[in-house]
Amino acid sequence: MLPSYYEFYNSVKIASGNKALENIPYELGQLGANRPLILTDQGVAKAGLTKLVIDSFAGSNVTIGAVYDSIPVDSSHLVVNQIAEIYRQKSCDSIIAVGGGSVIDTAKGVNIVVTEGSNDLLEFMGNNRLTKPMKPFIVVPTTGTGSEVTAAAVIMNTEKQTKMQFTSPYMLPKLAILDPRMTETMPPKITAATALDALTHAIEAFMGTQKNPISDAFATAAIVLIRDNIQNVLKNGKDKDSRLAMANAALLAGIAFSNSMVGCVHALAHALGGVCHVPHGIGNGIMLPHGMEYNLDAVPEHIAGLLLPLVGEERYVEIPPANRALEAIAAVRALSSMLEQATGIPLRLKDAGVPEDKLESIAKVAINDGAIAFNPKAMDFDDALRMLRAAY
Ligand SMILES: NC(=O)c1ccc[n+]([C@@H]2O[C@H](COP(=O)([O-])OP(=O)(O)OC[C@H]3O[C@@H](n4cnc5c(N)ncnc54)[C@H](O)[C@@H]3O)[C@@H](O)[C@H]2O)c1
Ligand SMILES: [Fe+2]
Repeated sequence: MLPSYYEFYNSVKIASGNKALENIPYELGQLGANRPLILTDQGVAKAGLTKLVIDSFAGSNVTIGAVYDSIPVDSSHLVVNQIAEIYRQKSCDSIIAVGGGSVIDTAKGVNIVVTEGSNDLLEFMGNNRLTKPMKPFIVVPTTGTGSEVTAAAVIMNTEKQTKMQFTSPYMLPKLAILDPRMTETMPPKITAATALDALTHAIEAFMGTQKNPISDAFATAAIVLIRDNIQNVLKNGKDKDSRLAMANAALLAGIAFSNSMVGCVHALAHALGGVCHVPHGIGNGIMLPHGMEYNLDAVPEHIAGLLLPLVGEERYVEIPPANRALEAIAAVRALSSMLEQATGIPLRLKDAGVPEDKLESIAKVAINDGAIAFNPKAMDFDDALRMLRAAY
């Protein structure tokens, strides 16, 4: 059944393919800019990826304003404020983010501060606090979070041990570049963790209260691409077709959840990240089957609807309708077990370095996370703690 009313928006231009990077100088010119601040991190720079982007400017009129290559994993508003100062000092006119979700979200934060003419990102925390279109912003993702097409950023507040959320359609980048050269260096564990993040985006967008036919189409297309390419990308990390397919899956799931939002799994993963520094994809991967089980009595038909993209037609027709929802959860567990065996990522909280005596603090943070507002079922402290204990 269609929702009685919904909205769907995504304005990001997408360039996907081998050598897509080479379009950056032209696209920057189209945006009226030629002096970008390049944001990246040490892992991405060491993998040679920042250089590939810079090399793509050869022969163009692009002058690099500055390169900041020390963004930490899950960076904070303090890092954002410091980089905004560099943008101003070096008279940059645009931002290019080259990295995973940590780099992209930091770049979104920097763009907020420089566009709004502020010194402190904290002023803009929450939904729709921005007042004008942002500076030209291009994103070259190197993992698979989908942040290149979302109107959201998640930034750490180190003092409060929480992950702050910022959302506004103004935050959408102008251009996302998917070039397989940028993800083929990703180590297996990060490949697996970001695939689980993308899968969680698609599944939570499909289960949530904001779901609509357009976000469903993006979410199911993402799940099919993950299903068909994840094994190959782990066996042969240099396979350009599989890498590009996985990057497209993350992007499709990003568009889905930027409109339909995420739910209890992300609320718990944000809290696990904030309190215990569990990597985002790992936290989602561990909590996803528990979140699906939690939502089962509220939206059994939506969970059953995930079975076809998760397992494909051949297996789907063998499963009686009454079993489809439970089989969809089983298919997610099977996928994460395969990833655990192939890469060694943890599937239980105790193996992810979470001390058992922190579960109550994590549950407290999770029930105050913005993502929970869009879950099909309310989650209170006891519910959150029960799920965390089940995943321990
Ligand atoms: N705003 C959004 O829409 C959104 C969506 C999903 C996740 N996120 C956020 O993204 C963050 C997680 O991002 P992530 O999972 O991409 O990890 P990350 O950006 O923290 O990167 C993890 C590590 O991988 C390395 N790395 C990245 N790409 C590489 C490559 N191609 N080759 C070799 N090494 C590489 C990095 O150097 C880093 O050490 C979390 O903070 C999460 O909250 C935001
Ligand atoms: Fe996520």
